[in-house]
Amino acid sequence: MLQVKDLTYRKILKNISFSLKKNSCVSIVGKNGSGKSTLLKCIAGIIKDFEGSVKIEGIDLNSLSSKEIASVVSYVPQLIEKRIELKVKEFLELSLYPYSIKFTDEEKKTKVFEVAEKMEIENLLDRRVCNLSGGEVQKVLISGAVLQGADILLLDEPTSHLDIYRKKEIMNFISGLRNMGKTIIFVSHNLDEVRDISDRVLVLKDGEIVKEIEKGGIEIIFETQFLEFVYA
Ligand SMILES: Nc1ncnc2c1ncn2[C@@H]1O[C@H](COP(=O)(O)OP(=O)(O)OP(=O)(O)O)[C@@H](O)[C@H]1O
Ligand SMILES: [Mg+2]
Repeated sequence: MLQVKDLTYRKILKNISFSLKKNSCVSIVGKNGSGKSTLLKCIAGIIKDFEGSVKIEGIDLNSLSSKEIASVVSYVPQLIEKRIELKVKEFLELSLYPYSIKFTDEEKKTKVFEVAEKMEIENLLDRRVCNLSGGEVQKVLISGAVLQGADILLLDEPTSHLDIYRKKEIMNFISGLRNMGKTIIFVSHNLDEVRDISDRVLVLKDGEIVKEIEKGGIEIIFETQFLEFVYA
C-alpha cells in the first residue's frame, strides 16, 4: 500500500526503496543523524522536493494536496513547537480537519473524548499544550494522529519522553492500533520496543538502508556486532 522508490533528498537520504503492506509495522533504526526523521518528513509530505517517489495505493504523494495527504498519513513528530497556546481539546479537534464530512461540535467533542479516554489524557483536555510535560505532549500528539483517521501512522520516537510505565502503555496502544488495521512506521532508539512491535526493521546508515531484518531474525538487533555496525 505504501511504496517508497529511489527516494533521495539532498545529501541526507540516498536511494531509499521499500514497500509496506497494509496492517504491518516497519521500524526504522539508525544512529543520530542517519536520516530517520527526514525520511518520515518526506513520507508525511512535509518535505516535498525529494527525488524518487512515495506512492500510497499507487497514487503519488506529490500529486495530493496537504489535506489529502493528511487523510492518508498521520505524522507524530519527534519534537514540536512547545509554544502551542491552544487547549488540548482545541488542538485535538483540529486533528479532525482532513475529514471531508463536517462534524457537529457535539460529534467533535465525543470523538475527542473517546480517544482521550483511551490514552488516559481526559484530565488534560482543558490544559494548554504549552504547559504540558514532554510525556503528556507525546500522548496528546499520538491522540491527534489517531483522530486524524489516516491509515498510515508515522511515529517518530513516540515514547522518548515517557516514563517506563507510560512507555509500556503507549506501546500496547500502538499495537492495538495495528491490530485495528493501521499501518505503522515506527522510529525508535528503544530496541525492546522495536523487537516487540516490528514485522520488519530497516537499518539506516548515513541516509541509506544498509540492512532489512524480518521478524524471524529480529534478535540480531541485540548482538554486539550489529550494534557496533549501526551505532558506532
Ligand atoms: N533542514 C535541514 N537542513 C540541513 N540539514 C538537515 C536538515 N534536517 C536535517 N538535517 C541533517 O540531516 C541529517 C539527518 O537528520 P535527521 O533528523 O533525519 O536524523 P535522525 O536519524 O532522525 O536523527 P536522531 O536520531 O538524532 O533523531 C543530520 O545530519 C541533520 O543534521
Ligand atoms: Mg530524528
